[in-house]
Amino acid sequence: MNEIRKKIVAANWKMNTTVTQGEKLVEDILLHLPGELNCTVIIAPPFTHLPMLVKKVEGTKICSAAQNCHQDKSGAFTGEISVDMLSDLGVNYVIIGHSERRQLFHEDNEIIKLKLDAVLAAGLLPIFCCGEPLDIRESETQNIFVHQQLEESLFHLHKDDFAKVCIAYEPIWAIGTGVTASPEQAQEMHMFIRDKIAIRYNKFVSETTRILYGGSIKADNAKTLFSQDDVDGGLVGGASLNSAGFLDIIRAACG
Ligand code: PGA
Repeated sequence: MNEIRKKIVAANWKMNTTVTQGEKLVEDILLHLPGELNCTVIIAPPFTHLPMLVKKVEGTKICSAAQNCHQDKSGAFTGEISVDMLSDLGVNYVIIGHSERRQLFHEDNEIIKLKLDAVLAAGLLPIFCCGEPLDIRESETQNIFVHQQLEESLFHLHKDDFAKVCIAYEPIWAIGTGVTASPEQAQEMHMFIRDKIAIRYNKFVSETTRILYGGSIKADNAKTLFSQDDVDGGLVGGASLNSAGFLDIIRAACG
């Protein structure tokens, strides 16, 4: 257990569950949550579930997150949700730059940078996703690729704002594919990211920043991934939709 960085386990439900199903899932998780929880648990359901979630987790150790937001404060953006709407609900975190947003909704590093600024300006906490596609991994240029994501969307932040950011490294080839990065591959990239943070900011900032791994985390691979020196927990998609499996992942992070 790293003394400086408490682990985080974040559930990304993506576009799954109705509010009724989501409510049942939260209830099941709360019912079996370890009493001595020495890690942070975050749930990011669809937008429609957030009022229910915020209410359900009030006074518990679970935090709430949105999966996305718009970068502008308000206006004619049909179908979008602003950071003020989220903060008004009492949401804690916002996931920014998930690879599905980048690939399917064409969000580039510049838009993600604006979203990040909007999240911080609203007093919310960003979970910033980065990670390379398969062809980049195959050409062994993943470090250059991820470094560019950090430079173009994240490293403009002042040190005090950067300290509020949690990073999630999610290699795209491992998301929803059942192929997990090996613990060594995850550790190597996390150490690389931490080194870049130390160069851009300083050693203290780099050692206190939480870097989560994401991509096909399951109960049976979570412990080995989380035991890597620079892996501070995980962003869990598919396996977070089952309460028993997700609770096992929480136990792997907290144990
Ligand atoms: P997965 O998704 O765990 O289903 O691979 C992770 C994510 O996209 O955050």
